Amino acid sequence: MQLSIDKTLVKDLMVENHYNRYKQMGSGVIQALKNNTCEGNDFLGWMNLPSHISNDELNRIQEVADKLRSNSDAVVVIGIGGSYLGARAVIESQLNPFANKGTEIIYAGHHLSPGYLTELASHLEGKKWSVVVISKSGTTTEPAIAFRFLRQKLTEQFGENSSKDRIVAITDEKKGALRQLVEAEGLPSFIIPDNVGGRFSVFTPVGLLPIAIAGFDIKALIVGAVEMEKNVWSENDENLALEYAAIRNALNQNGFGIEVLANYHHKFHYISEWWKQLYGESEGKDGKGIFPASVDLTTDLHSMGQYLQDGKRNIFETVIQFDNTQLKAETIQEDSENLDKLNYLAGKDLSFVNANALEGTMLAHRTGGVPNIKLRIANDDMKSIGGLLQFFMAACGISGLMLQVNPFNQPGVEDYKRNMFALLQKPGFEQEGEELQQLKKNLGF
Ligand code: PA5
Repeated sequence: MQLSIDKTLVKDLMVENHYNRYKQMGSGVIQALKNNTCEGNDFLGWMNLPSHISNDELNRIQEVADKLRSNSDAVVVIGIGGSYLGARAVIESQLNPFANKGTEIIYAGHHLSPGYLTELASHLEGKKWSVVVISKSGTTTEPAIAFRFLRQKLTEQFGENSSKDRIVAITDEKKGALRQLVEAEGLPSFIIPDNVGGRFSVFTPVGLLPIAIAGFDIKALIVGAVEMEKNVWSENDENLALEYAAIRNALNQNGFGIEVLANYHHKFHYISEWWKQLYGESEGKDGKGIFPASVDLTTDLHSMGQYLQDGKRNIFETVIQFDNTQLKAETIQEDSENLDKLNYLAGKDLSFVNANALEGTMLAHRTGGVPNIKLRIANDDMKSIGGLLQFFMAACGISGLMLQVNPFNQPGVEDYKRNMFALLQKPGFEQEGEELQQLKKNLGF
């Protein structure tokens, strides 16, 4: 198996009975997921997606990706939340940040910060570039604004007809403004299945197309996910997703309501960003949920380390450790003067130093009262990443149902949108506008 869970540094901070109760609850939860009888059962299409993707579908994604790679120096991937983070997480987990080869992947439509599109447009000037626009609902404001802007730029640069060869849309089969636009303009498109929510969509074209454009092996990613799929839906003691879900729920019940995902790998920042969205949006509802946070280590030991060691004791950590990586570790050389006093490390490589930092930090934090779960992953290659993502999604579904929330909706995300539309005076939001003005008066805001 590509992954294992070590709970040695959790045990005596977790009430054994709570853990056992969640483990027992797990088989019922897994059956409810498999039989489509749980809450949110209209959004379970992701559960067995990896084993159901056909080679034809993967080949079509690869073909479109190859075409964009061949005609573009840069591809702008437009999307937000679940329509953005999965692709970025996988791409950045493999990308050499210093290499300047191949098609550059740029992200847009993931915020509203005013200067970004202007700076992006000037970066694209003189380049051959294309756009992949991703929105399941097809109505999300951030990507819609970015797409309108970039489509106009494409038309200015390449002309009305040729610019259409430089756009691929990924959206719902029937619903939404983006689908209407795709049909009206005759743009190439892929479908996001109705029963797969945004944050569970990394193994649909939402994740796979950008990953293939970036030049990474989507078939290997799927192989890893398929292997993990077998484990996470099994109803035996080997089920890793159930184990992780039970530990985190038992810790939560014991007052550890914040989970910090810790990585010691410079390419894993966006895996954590994806994970935070997955767990935050799935579990944070009805006044419940484990708050997901993350740190990149050892970097953040010099910013968040003090709090982790010594702050309020409501945190547990989940630490990712690799058995092997694709990274080439530098060896520290002997220095005859030894002014920096580092000769005690001469002959050792950086993976040795990093591994000891991990172990030392886990022990220190545990001594400071922070339970530490260790997730051991076989490698950081595409296959292992595929397995890891499938593991986290399955564990998230199981854990959310253990918490007795519907992990597959996101009603809370609508509230900011309603207020923003009211303030922007979007037609149809007049009533909300008046209510908001009244609320502002009442709050003195
Ligand atoms: O996970 C989710 O459902 C959300 O984060 C969505 O992906 C996000 O809001 C973007 O929505 P859409 O793809 O409809 O533009």
